[in-house]
Amino acid sequence: MSMTINDLAGPLGAEVCRAMSQAKVFLDSHNDEQLLGRIGETVAGMASARTITKAVMQKSYGGGTPAETDDLLAGRGLFYVTEQGKLFLDCTAGHYQMSWGYDHPVLTQVIHDGLAAGIVPDNHSNIPQWPVKRLAQKLVEAANPDLPELRQGDFARVMESKTRLNTVLLGTATGSVACEAALKIMLMHHERTRRPGPPIFIVLDGNYHGTGFFSQYLRGMWGSYLRNLEVVAVQPNDGDELERVIARHQDRIAGFWAEPIMMNREAIRVQPEYLQLARKLVRRVGALLAIDEIQTGFWTSDLFMYKQCDIVPDIVVVGKGMSAGLHPLSGIIYRRELDVLAQYDAISTNGNAALAALVALANIELLQRHGSEIDGTQEYYYQRLGDLAAEFPDRIAAVHGHRALTGLKFRQVDDALAFHKKCVESGLWLRVHAYHAGHSTILCKFALCLERAVVDEFIRRLRRLLQTGK
Ligand SMILES: Cc1ncc(COP(=O)(O)O)c(C=O)c1O
Repeated sequence: MSMTINDLAGPLGAEVCRAMSQAKVFLDSHNDEQLLGRIGETVAGMASARTITKAVMQKSYGGGTPAETDDLLAGRGLFYVTEQGKLFLDCTAGHYQMSWGYDHPVLTQVIHDGLAAGIVPDNHSNIPQWPVKRLAQKLVEAANPDLPELRQGDFARVMESKTRLNTVLLGTATGSVACEAALKIMLMHHERTRRPGPPIFIVLDGNYHGTGFFSQYLRGMWGSYLRNLEVVAVQPNDGDELERVIARHQDRIAGFWAEPIMMNREAIRVQPEYLQLARKLVRRVGALLAIDEIQTGFWTSDLFMYKQCDIVPDIVVVGKGMSAGLHPLSGIIYRRELDVLAQYDAISTNGNAALAALVALANIELLQRHGSEIDGTQEYYYQRLGDLAAEFPDRIAAVHGHRALTGLKFRQVDDALAFHKKCVESGLWLRVHAYHAGHSTILCKFALCLERAVVDEFIRRLRRLLQTGK
């Protein structure tokens, strides 16, 4: 069949295409310094695409109404232009997954080169193309940096080990499915190893491990429907409470879950000492420790944040930034002993995707090559945010998080909400956590292409908004 589409106007509509390419040309023809000076401006001459509507979309995504939209039209790096032509600085790396921002020149080129070289976007999971297998190796390498032979392609010793993270499931596309897979492994391990009575999962209060039924149950949903599974939520960083809970439930505990930074709970950092204690106690009762790195993974030069805590989890869950937001790809890294799931216990059609795996490999290479620069800029940002908070002690209670994943904790919820509104009006795309009692935090997660000049301008703008409200 001979088929042609000469341009994108066919599938997308001519007016939208024109607006989109004008926005992209604007972004591409201005350097970051020029864009920084124009954040919040409505760019003159940008054709507004009147045909864009999301009325048919779900209400919770802003749909259900014929109202004019002002969503993302085109992006480059940390910047994007909206459908109404306004220039924004993206302080959340998209939905926390665009780890190198939009249209990163290297990753975009890798995608084109990969397709040209015969890498398929996706195919049947039973015949994974080489990038998927290579990515699995890379993840084992990253989890075992002290084994130099892995870098030479010799995996014999790590495969024999009973204690090392040496097994990778990449057949899941979204983080939610990966979390469910890890939960099922915990359940099966619990069943296999003993124990009368319903298994207990210990979680951190305010956790977010995705939208699966099981993982939502971990955060208090669907309680009246699930039976024979108990969840005990503990407060992050309260070691005494954890000791008490583990001592009380002992071998009924199937596992303990933690995210190194709780992006669903005001970016609270779970302290390394707390995770070390959890590691020790969980092992003592024969349960499993899962570290959910879906938010934190691939945002530091050592790839996983658990590495900074001096622990080895039983299961590490990865997703989001792994493939730099190109295409969802998630996975779990675990010990061979825990390789108990059958293929259809944990699979997504779009898991094991070769092109996404290629991007993940390029992402890892970029991260490792530019590691010290990235770490330095992130430390600089964290320091500057702390200094800013110290200038407004009557309004800002604390800076949460670590490096690029931060929460600016306000003393008053209303103040946080009003400040968030002002930020967005002024062209800073960031988020606020104020929808649970006691939450009053501005959240940011800057992409890895963050530069010091952007940090300086961002802090300057926050200071001005704090001082003058505009
Ligand atoms: C810590 C954590 N776990 C799990 C998930 C679920 O991932 P996904 O949205 O890809 O299903 C998320 C998503 O935000 C997350 O932040």
